[in-house]
Amino acid sequence: MTQRTLVLLKPDAVRRGLVGEIIRRIEAKGYTLAALDLRTATPELLAAHYAEHEGKPFYEPLVEFMLSGPVVAMVLEGERCIEGFRSVAGATDPTVAAPGTVRGDLGRDWGLKVQQNLVHGSDSLESAEREIGIWFPNL
Ligand code: CMP
Repeated sequence: MTQRTLVLLKPDAVRRGLVGEIIRRIEAKGYTLAALDLRTATPELLAAHYAEHEGKPFYEPLVEFMLSGPVVAMVLEGERCIEGFRSVAGATDPTVAAPGTVRGDLGRDWGLKVQQNLVHGSDSLESAEREIGIWFPNL
């Protein structure tokens, strides 16, 4: 089934100059870029995006980190691209993410910062539609 998914290249990916490398992997996998934008997030936007994590111990540091610099927001299209991009991204914790994945090849723990894991990808059809509506309301 053709799907859409919301992908964010987080501030650590932008700061480290990894935008091109990560987009190269997405394109090499064969997904289509339906939207792409360099953005500075806002507290309001992140409150909506991370609503399900509100109250968790990592919520405040995560929001602070996501406000620490610009992010690249994009919408990918393709067959099963929601699980496909999550497979390209690798496990949440970059220390143990498998080699061959974005987080496994390019990420590591820089000191108690699991949230600095380079990328975000929607985790379900419902999250994808909700998150695309937040980041690209006109799409
Ligand atoms: P993301 O896919 O953006 O969705 C939630 C984010 O919270 C996740 O990626 C990580 O950046 C962050 N996160 C998840 N679990 C933890 C954790 N245990 N400690 C710190 N950050 C976390």
